[in-house]
Amino acid sequence: VIILEGTREEIKDFRDAEWVVVDRENLDLQIDGSWQPEQHVLKAVVDGEIVGVAEMRFLGGVATLSDIIVGRDWRNRGIGRQLVARFEAMAHDAGCHKLTLKTPADSPAVDFYTRLGYRVEARLHDHYFHRDFLQLSKSMPNQGRKGRQ
Ligand SMILES: CC(C)(COP(=O)(O)OP(=O)(O)OC[C@H]1O[C@@H](n2cnc3c(N)ncnc32)[C@H](O)[C@@H]1OP(=O)(O)O)[C@@H](O)C(=O)NCCC(=O)NCCS
Repeated sequence: VIILEGTREEIKDFRDAEWVVVDRENLDLQIDGSWQPEQHVLKAVVDGEIVGVAEMRFLGGVATLSDIIVGRDWRNRGIGRQLVARFEAMAHDAGCHKLTLKTPADSPAVDFYTRLGYRVEARLHDHYFHRDFLQLSKSMPNQGRKGRQ
């Protein structure tokens, strides 16, 4: 055997064929094995200008929020809260049962998320750039399995 670097296209057929069997065995999934996330971005706009953005991905019922940022001059006016609310509404509509995100453990954003109902699920020691991060999560009750989310 030799191990070579390949491309996504090259490995796709093999990967899909093998994972569909393992997913059925290990996770009892009846879907066609695709772990392709659904991805979206949000923009907060004032007078045609972007003042805040966020990104999200939905996979296996877990909605992950990332890279939320509000422009320096626009903070503390409820824009971050509105971005998170929209993320949660879209996650709900996609059938997700859990919301999650990572943030530096010493970031002021921890308070922002805590106020919005997120709780510490895990501490990730010596993570990105040797910093501790927190995984914050919130579950969405009454949300069953729907589609492949
Ligand atoms: C975190 C961030 C997105 C919040 O956006 P925002 O528009 O300023 O927040 P909002 O005005 O919607 O605030 C919502 C609530 O969180 C609180 N809050 C916001 N920023 C806070 C902070 N830095 N520390 C403590 N509380 C904060 C607000 O007081 C408000 O609480 P309330 O409604 O009970 O009064 C924004 O500060 C930001 O872009 N920070 C830099 C980037 C960053 O850290 N992103 C998160 C990394 S994962």
